[in-house]
Amino acid sequence: MIDLSGKTALVTGGSRGIGRAVATTLAAAGAHVVIADRSDALRTDGASTSNLICAAGGTAESVLLDISDSEQVDAVFADVAGRSGIDILVNNAGVLSAGTVLDTTDDAWRSLFAVNVDGTFFCTRAAIRHMVDAGRGGKVVNVASISGLRANPGFAGYCAAKGAMVNFTRQVGIDYAPMGINVNGVAPGFVETDMTAIYDASIRGALEAQTPNGKWADPQHIADTVLFLASSLSDHICGEIVAVDGGWLVGTPVVPVIPVATAVSA
Ligand SMILES: NC(=O)c1ccc[n+]([C@@H]2O[C@H](COP(=O)([O-])OP(=O)(O)OC[C@H]3O[C@@H](n4cnc5c(N)ncnc54)[C@H](O)[C@@H]3O)[C@@H](O)[C@H]2O)c1
Repeated sequence: MIDLSGKTALVTGGSRGIGRAVATTLAAAGAHVVIADRSDALRTDGASTSNLICAAGGTAESVLLDISDSEQVDAVFADVAGRSGIDILVNNAGVLSAGTVLDTTDDAWRSLFAVNVDGTFFCTRAAIRHMVDAGRGGKVVNVASISGLRANPGFAGYCAAKGAMVNFTRQVGIDYAPMGINVNGVAPGFVETDMTAIYDASIRGALEAQTPNGKWADPQHIADTVLFLASSLSDHICGEIVAVDGGWLVGTPVVPVIPVATAVSA
C-alpha cells in the first residue's frame, strides 16, 4: 500500500483526462494535491478536480496556471512551496496537434513546444529549486508519450516535443539523483481522453489492432504508474521512461504468419 500522507503533490493539467486521474489517485494515497491548470480553478459547476477530491475526503486546491509562462510558474511554485513544500511534481499538462513538416505552421510548432517542452522545463526547474532548498529529496514524473520514443506518422511537432521531454527527463534524472530527487517519466500509448477525441472510429479500430493487448488505456492505467513513480517504491529509478501502452512499443502486431495458438502448442 502506497502512503503519501504528509506529501504535497503538484499536478499540471489536472482538470481532466490523465491529469485528473493522477490527481485523484495521489490524493487517495494521502497526498495534498495542487491542481495547476488553465481551467480547473475557473470551474463554477462544482465539478473541478479539487472539489471531487475534497468530496471524497482528500485535500486539494486548484490554482490557475499557464505552464508556458515562466513568471507565472515561478510565482505559483514559490507560493505552494512556502505554504506546504513541494514533494512531488507531475508534469502532465500537454497539447497535441497533427501535421507533417509541410503542414506545420510556425504557430503550431511554437505552441507544441511552449507547453510540452518549455512548460515542463519551467515547472521542473521551479520544483527542483524548492526540493534542493528543502533538502529532503523529491519526485518528478513527466507524462511524455510513445510519440517521444518512436516516430508517429503525421505528428512532426508533437513527436519532436515529446522526444525532447524524454531526453530532458533522462538528463535531469541523472543530474539530481545525488540529491535524492527521482526524475522519471511515463510514455502513454493511446488513452481515452478529450485529447484523442480527434480519432474517428476507423482510425481508432486500426490503432487498437496495432496494439498487442488490443485496447486503449483508461487514464487510470497511467495514473497507477505515476503513483508508483511518485512513491518511495521508485527510489532507485532515475531518468527512466516507463511505457504504458499495451505493448505497442515492444512490437506492433503484423499479419500473423504463425497463429499464436499453433506456435504455443508446437
Ligand atoms: N491521451 C493520450 O492518448 C495521450 C497519449 C500519450 C501522451 N499523452 C499526454 O498526456 C498528457 C495529458 O493528456 P490528456 O489526454 O489527459 O489531455 P487533455 O487534453 O484531456 O488534458 C490536458 C490538460 O492540460 C491542460 N493544459 C494544456 N495546456 C496547458 C497550459 N499551458 N498550462 C496549464 N495547463 C494546460 C488542459 O487544461 C487539460 O486539463 C499530455 O501531456 C499528453 O500529451 C496523452
